Amino acid sequence: MRELSQQAARDGVLIVDFGSQFTQLIARRVRESGVYCEIVPFDRTGDADGRLNARAIILSGGPASVTESEAPRVPAGIWDRGVPVLGICYGEQAMCDALGGAVEPGHTGGEFGRAHVEVIGQSRLFEGVWSLGQSAEVWMSHGDRVTAIPPGFRPIAISQGAPFAAIADEARDFYGVQFHLEVAHTPQGAALLRNFTHRIAGFAGDWTMASFKDEAIRAIRAQVGDARVICGLSGGVDSSVAAVLIHEAIGDQLTCVFVDTGLLRQDEADEVVRLFRGHYNIPLVHRDAADLFLGRLEGITDPEQKRKVIGATFIDVFDEEASKFTDARFLAQGTLYPDVVESVSARGGPSATIKSHHNVGGLPERMKLKLVEPLRELFKDEVRALGRELGLPSTLVDRHPFPGPGLAIRMPGTITKPRLDVLRKADAILIEEIRAAGLYHEIWQLFAVLLPVRTVGVMGDFRTYDEVLALRAVTSTDGMTADVYPMPHTLLGRIATRIVNEVKGINRVVYDITSKPPGTIEWE
Ligand code: XMP
Repeated sequence: MRELSQQAARDGVLIVDFGSQFTQLIARRVRESGVYCEIVPFDRTGDADGRLNARAIILSGGPASVTESEAPRVPAGIWDRGVPVLGICYGEQAMCDALGGAVEPGHTGGEFGRAHVEVIGQSRLFEGVWSLGQSAEVWMSHGDRVTAIPPGFRPIAISQGAPFAAIADEARDFYGVQFHLEVAHTPQGAALLRNFTHRIAGFAGDWTMASFKDEAIRAIRAQVGDARVICGLSGGVDSSVAAVLIHEAIGDQLTCVFVDTGLLRQDEADEVVRLFRGHYNIPLVHRDAADLFLGRLEGITDPEQKRKVIGATFIDVFDEEASKFTDARFLAQGTLYPDVVESVSARGGPSATIKSHHNVGGLPERMKLKLVEPLRELFKDEVRALGRELGLPSTLVDRHPFPGPGLAIRMPGTITKPRLDVLRKADAILIEEIRAAGLYHEIWQLFAVLLPVRTVGVMGDFRTYDEVLALRAVTSTDGMTADVYPMPHTLLGRIATRIVNEVKGINRVVYDITSKPPGTIEWE
């Protein structure tokens, strides 16, 4: 089991997940309004106990139908906690089902996409946002609908497809909305959510990065005592922020280990070590483990297996480095919230594993060190905000994300030193051209992928038969979803020409125009 931080529970909102694709968005909106929150699966609502003092509860949407016997239900204890509850979409239906209302299945009365509600009752949920009699735009996505509300509730908004588009029981502070107020397509959704957290639940909205930082420092001190912490530093934003935060907490009890996996980009090892040593007085071990990683990866082509081998090899290296100290008992990682939060499927099991992040699902069972993961509850852009709060330079905070498994997951097929060298050269040209065009900070993540596909080309008077390189550039806020960056064609052309001319082994360049979803950002 992971070590839980031994801090006092933080006041916040408990988000009960019924498997909606928007559950994480609810969390984003709540945090943006200065209120801390955590997501728990509907069948494990106790998971956050001890960490979170839930002063309000939100029930998410979900793909199931409460009319089916196996549908996920709201845990009974929720209603007796004496705190405000807001049910969204499936959450409203599950609330009505549990408290004595009725829900009807079927798609004929369903609404999908943009819809309008008419406000028919005053409520604190609407205060300062919607007024009585007003028609307001919302975003709906429901087949089932509530046809009778439980005793104590009254309707406060209706729509064509939902006679109970919003309901309230103000005595108990229970609210339900059929529409999704967490999505941008409900223009006033964030304001309504804020009414729930601030006006109804009474949060002050004072959860800031400064307060997070202070609490995190206290928690790290409590967790590690006087032991040494080994911090795996990759040079990426997350591990750099984790290292500086932990250093603020425990000073020279921290030793950072930068592992050169042989899967890094061109000049990356030198750059990271220089950047870090230049800015911080934190002991930094630079470990060259390229032969170890490449040896273990030899012949492996399956993406999940690559990730698992890399995760395990990192741990072996950290264990080895830790054994050089008598007091090293902890390993710090820059693990983020999206890496650990489990969504749930309609039937209640964990959702399909898309990728085992090397630092979570890729960890071996036999780890000796206990984990310190102070960023486990943050999204990527929140980590950047924390980095700025800690005074990290923009050269570190605003670097594009680079995954721990590095170029191994940008190289479908076998990983060999010659192919890595080809990819490194091409990737360096891509980054150089994008920086020269002044576009680096417009793009969230940028990289090249070397494909194990050979195509025929012609250079000068000769036939070539070489591999294909795909370029990927995306915009995003937190990596959970991503759009393709609309790269100017002339620039793409210049990059392709340079790569084919300068990098032996590549004779064709393509641009990946898939968003996430349905694609993912990395290719493996
Ligand atoms: P995907 O490919 O899942 O990536 O859309 C989302 C973000 O996560 C990064 N990523 C990882 N980072 N270890 C990491 O440290 C991993 O195993 C890993 N897999 C993906 C990816 O680069 C992108 O920023």
